Formats: sequence, structure tokens, C-alpha cells
Amino acid sequence: MDLTVFSTQPYDRRFLERVNAEHGHEIRYLEARLNPETAALASGSHSVCAFVNDRLDAPVLEALAAGGTRHVALRCAGFNHVDLAAAEAHGITVTRVPEYSPHAVAEHTVGLMLALNRKLHRAYNRVREGNFSLDGLLGFDFHGKTVAVIGTGRIGAATARILSGFGCRLLAYDVAPNEACRELGVAYGDLDEVLAAADVVTLHCPLTPETHHLIGEKRLDRMRDGTMLVNTSRGALIDSPAVIERLKDGRLSGLAIDVYEEEADLFFRDLSGQVIQDDVFARLLTFPNVVVTAHQAFFTEEAMENIARTTLENVRVFCSGETPANRVEAQRVVR
Ligand code: NAI
Repeated sequence: MDLTVFSTQPYDRRFLERVNAEHGHEIRYLEARLNPETAALASGSHSVCAFVNDRLDAPVLEALAAGGTRHVALRCAGFNHVDLAAAEAHGITVTRVPEYSPHAVAEHTVGLMLALNRKLHRAYNRVREGNFSLDGLLGFDFHGKTVAVIGTGRIGAATARILSGFGCRLLAYDVAPNEACRELGVAYGDLDEVLAAADVVTLHCPLTPETHHLIGEKRLDRMRDGTMLVNTSRGALIDSPAVIERLKDGRLSGLAIDVYEEEADLFFRDLSGQVIQDDVFARLLTFPNVVVTAHQAFFTEEAMENIARTTLENVRVFCSGETPANRVEAQRVVR
């Protein structure tokens, strides 16, 4: 077996099968999430394909290595869930899909902003119930508003481009500012400064030890009253209980998220017949000014095609003995 795919959804299989017609890899598809109990199912596969909520900590990587796995092909961009030092220690090469469609995520981000601002989630339900009142649906013009983009890599820059078209004033914070954003008119400042000046804050930096709970109590206190917070990057960038307090007292005007710190036990599954056990998440769902999507920002035809293409190309390159260009290493990313 060349490749075992964990957390397979029907759509993953459809796109991988289509692209694999060009490769002919022998693929085993598993619905199970990768964790210490399921790692042995990959036994005999030199490559394992994993997604955002699969566990790739030291015990799992050790179990994969014991079964003969030498390559983890992430079918996502983020790699915060991989213990890269443990992978290296077990002789496992990790690859990812660094870019598949920044537009998919940026467009979804802006969609969330617009839905939250104009209360489209509430308007949809109202109209279906024959309630055509506008009371409570008042929004604001994005034109002229100040948006702080935190992290201006591929997705942050694509988001800034769209918002520039809306006539927003754009501020940004990034440890490595992006010249293309500067040319667009984006003004960089330090984090506290841009947070304090924004009407809308949108997060697009990776989850790292430095960015864990980047938006916690102290940073929330820096924001103006009435700021809208948007996160389509990784859930743990925000401290959810602290955000809930600001939603309760009205200092945050709204929250739109596609990611949640504890999403691994929730997202990508139909739990509609079950009681949600995560009280923080359940509380978030009760607010009229919170819009949640379940990690779907990446989910477009174009992105899925590119993910399948790059993932299987990473497997091909690894099998050929060359160094995959999309290899991720501890401390640094090789592009
Ligand atoms: P990228 O690598 O192109 O850009 C990330 C940017 O963040 C870079 O400019 C980097 O300098 C900056 N950065 C790094 N550390 C920082 C810090 N401490 N403070 C401020 N900025 C910092 O990544 P890309 O493609 O734009 O993706 C961004 C994130 O979006 C990914 O890390 C991933 O977590 C998330 N993502 C979410 C998806 C979804 O479906 N919701 C899909 C794809 C990615």
C-alpha cells in the first residue's frame, strides 16, 4: 500500500480518486481520524495522508513509524498539529499543501463579515417564517471602515485586496510585512496600535506558540467598543471564554469564526442528533451576533482540486527519493 488517507470524507475521496487516475498510487481510504488508537491501521503504508484535526503528536508518529510509515502528507496548509521534532526523530518526512486557494479562504472570510454585519443569518430565518420586519437587522457600510488584517501572507493579502475594493481603510500587523499589501495602501503598525484603531479585526496568521491566544483579555481590552472580530485561521488564536465575556457586555459587536480551538471533537461530523458537550462552544451558538461555520473556508472546487493535486504530487516526489519541495521541517518551512 502506497498511501493511507485518514479522516476521509466522500468529497476527499472523489477529488483524490480523480487526480490519482494520473498517478496510480495504491490508496486505502479510512473514515477514522488519526489518533493513537487508529495509527496501526496505516501499517504497511509508506505515506499517510492527514487533515487538520488528525493527531500527529509524538505517540502517533512513533506508532506510524513502527508500522513502516516514512511520510506524512498533510492535505492542508497549517501544520501546527504536527510534532515536527518527533517526526524528524522517527525519520518521517512531513509535507503540506502550502497554497491551494487563498481566494477560497479570503472570500469566505469576507462572506462571514458581510453576513455578520447585515445579519443575513437572522434575515434568512425571519423571511422563511413570514417575518419581514427589519427591526434588529441594521448594519453599517464597510466603505470607509477600518479593518485590521493580522497576518498578511497569502490569505491575509487576498482578504485585504477584496476589502480594498470595498473602500475600507486597511491596517495590518505581520512579523514580516508584505510589499504587495503596502502597494495596495495597507498601513502596517504594531499589534496593539492596529487593534485599537480597527472597526473590524480579521485573523490570518498561523497558530504557533507565539500566536496562541493572541487575542486574549489584554488585547481585547485594547480594542474599541463595538469592534467585530473574525477568525478563519486557527481557533486557538483567540481565547474563547474571554471573547464570550466581551460579547456579553457588548464591547465586541460580533464574532464570526470558521475555526474553534476545540473543533477536533465537533467539526466535519453530523452531530445534529446529539447534545453538544462543549459548554464554551454551546454558549457561542446562543448569541445572535455570532456566526459560526465549521471549517469550510477552504471548501471550493478549485481548492479541493489543488489540494488533491499537490498532495499526490508530494507522495510521488517522496516515493521517487527526491526531497519534496513542500516539506515542512522543525523550526523552518522549506518552500
Ligand atoms: P502564509 O504563510 O502565506 O501567511 C501567514 C502570515 O502570517 C505570514 O505573512 C507570516 O509572516 C505571518 N505571521 C507569522 N507569525 C506571525 C505572528 N506571530 N504575528 C503576525 N503575523 C505572523 O499562510 P496563509 O496561506 O495565508 O494561511 C494563513 C493561515 O490560515 C494558515 O496558517 C492556516 O492556519 C489558516 N487556514 C485556514 C483555512 C480554513 O479553511 N479556515 C484554510 C487554509 C489556511
